Amino acid sequence: MAAASQQGALVLEGLSKRYGTFTALEPTSLTIEDGEFLTLLGPSGSGKTTLLQMISGLTDPSEGRLIFNGEDWTHRPVNARGMGLVFQHYALFPHMTVAENVAFPLEMRKLPSAEMKTRVEETLRKVQLDQFAHRFPKELSGGQQQRVALARCLVFRPKVILMDEPLGALDKALREHMQLEIRRLHKEYGTTIIYVTHDQEEALVMSDRICVMNHARVEQIGAPSQIYGNPETLFAATFIGHSNVLSGEKVSSDGDVATIRTPFGTFSGKHTARDRSATDVSLIIRPEQMRLGSAPGDAFDGVTGRLTDLIYVGAETRLLLTLGSDTSLTLRHDPSAGDLPSIGDEVAVHWPKTAARIVT
Ligand SMILES: Nc1ncnc2c1ncn2[C@@H]1O[C@H](COP(=O)(O)OP(=O)(O)OP(=O)(O)O)[C@@H](O)[C@H]1O
Ligand SMILES: [Mg+2]
Repeated sequence: MAAASQQGALVLEGLSKRYGTFTALEPTSLTIEDGEFLTLLGPSGSGKTTLLQMISGLTDPSEGRLIFNGEDWTHRPVNARGMGLVFQHYALFPHMTVAENVAFPLEMRKLPSAEMKTRVEETLRKVQLDQFAHRFPKELSGGQQQRVALARCLVFRPKVILMDEPLGALDKALREHMQLEIRRLHKEYGTTIIYVTHDQEEALVMSDRICVMNHARVEQIGAPSQIYGNPETLFAATFIGHSNVLSGEKVSSDGDVATIRTPFGTFSGKHTARDRSATDVSLIIRPEQMRLGSAPGDAFDGVTGRLTDLIYVGAETRLLLTLGSDTSLTLRHDPSAGDLPSIGDEVAVHWPKTAARIVT
């Protein structure tokens, strides 16, 4: 009998993958809860597909175990796992109509034909393709084809769906639309979804939790707001959202607060670093936390830099500042702060100490 907290949970215990002497994934341990939407986010080559393929059973792990619902699934064959798989180029059968493509997994499972018909119709309605049931894949747009792939996976009601960059081939508008569709379907079906992307915005929009990966290992795992608000490493801070980074040496720490000496001054911030003993650290300040003007009191820190560029991006204007020779800062222009300075001006900026983070 599975422990209550593991009902329907997928537990990875030190799962790793090596190819000869090359490590594609360092030993990784994490628990994916029943019904969770977990995104594996990281740059190319960080081990996302490797991790997903080991969960699917398409790749054998070098070490470690995979437990599903309390049972050891490490060496269970792909077909016996019954997981839904959606990949970027998971080709539809070209000689079958949309409805036949979607019915295929049910045929394999030998469902009675009346029930099969009902389920296919219902699933096509869910992905808003009921009008297209009799078309062939080549008569559909890329987004419509991807919705067929999604329907073909949802139709057999898998407990777990694995998606590897399923929207990678679509244009931005369609990708954003499909992100919301998948989110809606996830809520409706309550399926566990493990989703791979290297697009941080996509990860923020869709996930319950994000697993940030880099160099074959997990950097940080947490809710989007937790990773954005309390990054533990410089990589997590710069990969998710924009960060202003001032690097230096940790000179003191007291509980959750630490002080860092940089070439531009000594500053304090919340100590969120995973490695508390490290002395080479970075101060992270998100652009929306920085304001023009000198620090208005003890609760703030600030620096002075030269304005090098103003970038108009529709909803806001971004200010680019340089400090010294190789440090740059970005902030958003707050119209209530008055007129924009001019390029070349020396400008002071400040931020609340409570908004700064100290990471390794
Ligand atoms: N069969 C294999 N043999 C040798 N090395 C492999 C094999 N499969 C993957 N790798 C290597 O393992 C590393 C991780 O690959 P993986 O496909 O997991 O990356 P990824 O994070 O999915 O990247 P991308 O975003 O480019 O898809 C890469 O350096 C890759 O070259
Ligand atoms: Mg990949």
